[in-house]
Amino acid sequence: MSSPTHIVIFGASGDLTKRKLLPALYALSCETLIADDVVIVGFARKEKSHEQFRTELGEAIKQHSRFKDKAEESGKCPWKTFAERVYYHKGDFANAEDYASLLKFLDSLPPKNTGPSNRLFYLATPPSVFSVIIQRLGGAGLVTKEANDDGWTRIIVEKPFGSDLETARILNEQIAAVFQEDQIYRIDHYLGKETVQNILVFRMSNGIFEPLWNNHYIDHVQITVAEPLGVEERGSYFEEAGILRDMIQSHVLQLLTLIAMEPPVAFEANAIRDEKVKVLHAIRPYSQTDVTDHVVRAQYVAKNIDGNAMVGYRQEPEVNPKSTTETFVAMRLDIDNWRWAGVPFYLRVGKRLAKRLTEVAIYFKHAPYALFRSAGCYTLEPNVLALRIQPNEGISLGFGSKAPGTTIRIDPVQMDFLYETSFQDAQPEAYERLLSDCLTGDSTLFARRDEIEHAWDLVTRILHVWNGIPRPQLPEYQSGSWGPDESDDLIRKDLRKWRKL
Ligand code: NDP
Ligand code: BG6
Repeated sequence: MSSPTHIVIFGASGDLTKRKLLPALYALSCETLIADDVVIVGFARKEKSHEQFRTELGEAIKQHSRFKDKAEESGKCPWKTFAERVYYHKGDFANAEDYASLLKFLDSLPPKNTGPSNRLFYLATPPSVFSVIIQRLGGAGLVTKEANDDGWTRIIVEKPFGSDLETARILNEQIAAVFQEDQIYRIDHYLGKETVQNILVFRMSNGIFEPLWNNHYIDHVQITVAEPLGVEERGSYFEEAGILRDMIQSHVLQLLTLIAMEPPVAFEANAIRDEKVKVLHAIRPYSQTDVTDHVVRAQYVAKNIDGNAMVGYRQEPEVNPKSTTETFVAMRLDIDNWRWAGVPFYLRVGKRLAKRLTEVAIYFKHAPYALFRSAGCYTLEPNVLALRIQPNEGISLGFGSKAPGTTIRIDPVQMDFLYETSFQDAQPEAYERLLSDCLTGDSTLFARRDEIEHAWDLVTRILHVWNGIPRPQLPEYQSGSWGPDESDDLIRKDLRKWRKL
């Protein structure tokens, strides 16, 4: 149970607040995971009353909340009751006076005179205004550095955290001038997903996997993050970001570090983050030639799928018709340490791919020799352990089995674990877990300063090489496919192939 807290959401009229943050806070309240004296204040530019804000969010809850059935007045968790603790404060991020009035407003809100009162600021805004908000918060005296008898102050910063190594470092400096590191929660919502958290549990709580989790037994690892959707309404954001910044720097490298890290000395925030940083540190830095050889970028083009005309990236709203922004990346990374030397990690990520799927596939080495050759079995499929992050959340292990019959024939079969059949409880949304952790002061599932900078270091090396190529001819891939031919070539030249999904 959390203590009395004011949560101020900057960017409260935006998409993230509507689709994720308020539904998550409402769900935590329905699950009695936050106390009744947690008060939410939305801060944004548009003029609107508290009542208008509550009504708008009520509509969003009907659409996006997993508790929408209980939100009616007669339901178990009426939205109306929750909404009484939601307020709106109009302000401009750049205007110091609006922060002074925010301070006054917060002081006028409940809970009053009930002991410590905490403040959580959530930056759900375009990244371009993170710095100014942080400076103004500091300037207005809204931040207490040390938790004391009056309560704590924390800040959650949305992604993308910077746009390259330099801007991430500057942003880190700016935040450090106002907040201490243990007050800063850099969010990566992938870490709030149950299946991502299960990576460590799976590895470290079962005696049979960790002993095999190294270059003696593993041949290579494939991480796939595929989305069938295009950039939707986020064309202008995506034009600036591209998929390398949008997904690889954050979600995909987080997956990779959890797969590759050493067991931490304790299940505790800094111990875990220390090990994740060591993985990022051990990734072999790309030279210019490595980028050319090991990284493929591409852009989706139009295709008619089942009678639906899918536009190409360049025809999307707010996208430059001559854009060279990548919507697909495939790459090979090598981790130079004793555990992983010689085990390539292949990553492929893209918009408008064949289906929605995030998966980590661990390819084990082939059996050392073909015992069954005399029976006509020359090739054996490798064992593949697939961690399905989403959808159909679960884990499967593929192995060869004798097909019934009077001769030896080895067929691939699967052992499958599915969350939905093994656990009856619905999985909480990632933002529920992350908000709840931040309120209780647990930063395990948030990125530390050095983690962010190491990830940007890797990505910035690639960006520098790309930026140096005049007017690149980007490979193209058809909407609904698995990416360009160059992606297949990337892995084929290592005599391997992408998993069929
Ligand atoms: P939106 O563009 O939908 O919302 C931006 C918000 O910021 C609006 O409330 C807008 O207010 C406010 N705003 C912008 N400039 C100012 C200003 N100068 N003064 C006051 N308010 C201002 O963004 P999203 O909600 O989509 O994204 C927010 C953040 O979350 C971004 O960092 C994004 O990368 C991240 N994110 C978003 C995801 C999503 O699914 N949407 C997923 C993962 C991360 P007004 O309407 O009044 O102009
Ligand atoms: C966001 C990216 O961080 O994650 C989006 O900006 C992407 O481009 C999204 O679509 C994917 O998240 P999820 O949870 O829907 O897989």
